[in-house]
Amino acid sequence: MTQESSKIGCLYGIGVGPGDPELITLKALKALQTVPVICVPQASNRWDSYALTIVKGYVKPEQEILRAPFPTDDADGAAQTWIEASKLVVERLEKGQDVAFLTEGDPMLFSTFSYVLNGVKELCPEAPVVIIPGISSVMAAAASAGEPLVTHGQKLAILPAAYGLDDLSEATSNFDTVVLMKVSPIIVKTLADLEGLGLTKQSTYVKRVTTEREKVIRDVTEIKDEDMDYFSLLIVKSNPEKNSE
Ligand SMILES: C[S@@+](CC[C@H](N)C(=O)[O-])C[C@H]1O[C@@H](n2cnc3c(N)ncnc32)[C@H](O)[C@@H]1O
Repeated sequence: MTQESSKIGCLYGIGVGPGDPELITLKALKALQTVPVICVPQASNRWDSYALTIVKGYVKPEQEILRAPFPTDDADGAAQTWIEASKLVVERLEKGQDVAFLTEGDPMLFSTFSYVLNGVKELCPEAPVVIIPGISSVMAAAASAGEPLVTHGQKLAILPAAYGLDDLSEATSNFDTVVLMKVSPIIVKTLADLEGLGLTKQSTYVKRVTTEREKVIRDVTEIKDEDMDYFSLLIVKSNPEKNSE
């Protein structure tokens, strides 16, 4: 897939979807199976990359799996780790190899790809980049819960992990539906905040969506320790009557 006009390989940012291997797009699958190098983010404190686990059945033995170390938080040194990861990618691109960087869900939503994209743009601005969107966990969770996220004229907010009571209060006042990502490390506090705001009954917890381990919990007071999972999110409806109109 290397472009004939350039000796530099192409960087593909590929969204592989939320977990079910059948939820990858045809375009992403084609790119994934054509590149010589597949790059995945690899945290030191986690099992194999989730994105790679999703597509492992599609990977060919001759493809190089490049595990790029990535920081587990935004602590000091995180930026340097991203530069190191980007350098590994650029080494391959400069050899004329196309590289597919895999991310779970969509590559443009809270994704490690954004750091590598920045790093590659900085280190090798001439490298062509193709970004192939994926089905985000947000969309998949709404499908599994069987409830539209928003309907005509309604507003949707997607918040990252760092939210407190004030953020929740503000978001649920201003938006019809609020999706809380990366919720598991702060679930206890978040559930207490939702209860304080009277929103517990309007919240749905979705874990490991579209996989065999999927769980949709409509009564969030029933969430147990074993339900905790990094791959989980909460959908909060601020005004369910309005949502069901
Ligand atoms: C770094 S973000 C990646 C989001 C991803 N790019 C997307 O489009 O879904 C990780 C967060 O996404 C959510 N997530 C990703 N995959 C999930 C899944 N299969 N089930 C539920 N939530 C998931 C969780 O909130 C998790 O903490």
